[in-house]
Amino acid sequence: MKIPLNIRNLELSDINQAMLLEKAAWSHDTQATRVQLEDRLTIFKEGFFGAFTTNEKLIGMASSQIITYSPNDSFKSWETLTSSGWISKTHQPQGNCLHFVSICVHPENHHQGIGKKLNKERLHLAEKLHLKYVLTDTRLPGLSSFLKSNINNLPKDYLAAIKKGEIIEPVVQMYLSLGFQALGLIPDCMKSDEESANFGLAMLKEI
Ligand SMILES: CC(C)(COP(=O)(O)OP(=O)(O)OC[C@H]1O[C@@H](n2cnc3c(N)ncnc32)[C@H](O)[C@@H]1OP(=O)(O)O)[C@@H](O)C(=O)NCCC(=O)NCCS
Repeated sequence: MKIPLNIRNLELSDINQAMLLEKAAWSHDTQATRVQLEDRLTIFKEGFFGAFTTNEKLIGMASSQIITYSPNDSFKSWETLTSSGWISKTHQPQGNCLHFVSICVHPENHHQGIGKKLNKERLHLAEKLHLKYVLTDTRLPGLSSFLKSNINNLPKDYLAAIKKGEIIEPVVQMYLSLGFQALGLIPDCMKSDEESANFGLAMLKEI
């Protein structure tokens, strides 16, 4: 069921709600701290969107930063691109690429199109700022189970199966449906992301 939403930039006064949402949406080891959320909001508020119900309850949020990207770059991990979640160390206002730092939707509100709406806001922002690229290093939450299911399974087999449509990885599907291209696997992408066996997938969209 889709519910009416107001999508707007977060304010520092929303940080308590943001923290509650972060805790509900992410496993303990992958959660951002309050200070990291404040860092993302203070450094680039324009790129930090929240989805609010008509009662001003925050049920989804997505943050971003600007980086400098070249198609010749090797794939960089989320840890490197964000200095392990601190965009005050990595945000480059003069860069050419919007990098998606984080997105989550409250588990009670999954599959209602909220993640996609937040991503569309980030894509509009990239257009508005005349950036050339949008980059995301997506999680692969089904990878760990895939690897455990057969000793011969490799991460590259998982990606090949996703590309052939034999395996649906919903997060990847979300970005494919928004026009992103899958570039390649990133080992040690996000530490503590056990579901993804610490791998990520570099995905790019040219604006
Ligand atoms: C990833 C996440 C943000 C998606 O949010 P959501 O609001 O449930 O996503 P949406 O309902 O907008 O779905 C977006 C798209 O994802 C894809 N998708 C979602 N669930 C899917 C499923 N079960 N099977 C296939 N595709 C699926 C579809 O392409 C869908 O678009 P469509 O409905 O137009 O076909 C949410 O699952 C989440 O918070 N996960 C935990 C944190 C996380 O892993 N963040 C991602 C970091 S890369």
